[in-house]
Amino acid sequence: MGFLSNLFSKKTLPNADLSVLKADMHSHLIPGIDDGSKSMDETIALLSKYKQLGYKKVITTPHVMSDYYKNTPEIILSGLEEVRSELKRINLDIEIEAAAEYYFDETLFQTLKENKLLTFGGNYALIEFSFTTPPSGVETLFYEMRIGGLKPIIAHFERYQYFFGSVEQARAWRENGLFIQLNINSLSGHYGLAVKKQAEMLIDAGLVDFLGTDCHRIDHLNLLQNNLNLPYLQKVLELPLLNSTL
Ligand SMILES: [Fe+2]
Repeated sequence: MGFLSNLFSKKTLPNADLSVLKADMHSHLIPGIDDGSKSMDETIALLSKYKQLGYKKVITTPHVMSDYYKNTPEIILSGLEEVRSELKRINLDIEIEAAAEYYFDETLFQTLKENKLLTFGGNYALIEFSFTTPPSGVETLFYEMRIGGLKPIIAHFERYQYFFGSVEQARAWRENGLFIQLNINSLSGHYGLAVKKQAEMLIDAGLVDFLGTDCHRIDHLNLLQNNLNLPYLQKVLELPLLNSTL
């Protein structure tokens, strides 16, 4: 009986409406340049799914990582142009822009110095760290970025193991003018229970500025679509998120 009533109550929860976000700002959709989409066909299937989910715009963010993905603005932007041409050719109406997801490593300072960071919105730049090792020297990077008029966004804060159990670093960074992005699929437990808990703590504390799909493949969007009735997704959508300003 308990099982049946749980099933019933789950079914009665309304699905969240992602169209209120208007834009996604974290994904890997340029074919063949990172661990995301592998072909133009796959990219188009993903973009069709975004449209179906209610998104009007997708700002895609290929990995830039000195050891693995040596993507330059030229590589990313020429890939973007190919995707745009294909969208036009098949008449699929969804806007796409590109920036990057910058891994915090030694080359990032150089890229910043050369003024070659790809940004989006009002000078936002998406930065990620190692999941297991705390980033040392990152405050210097953020200081230099802010001096240069850039607005750093911490990618999927909830996924960094060394922050599990506390959201104080997110709070401190936000007070210093940084922004926090959360992966929607963290809420369904896709990255594990600890990540899910950390995501819920961030939401409870109101420390989320952007929601991202971090989509690498169609499974990510299917999972998201199947979990639109999660209470914490409804809760995070009530925060003053900035996706719709992009
Ligand atoms: Fe990502």
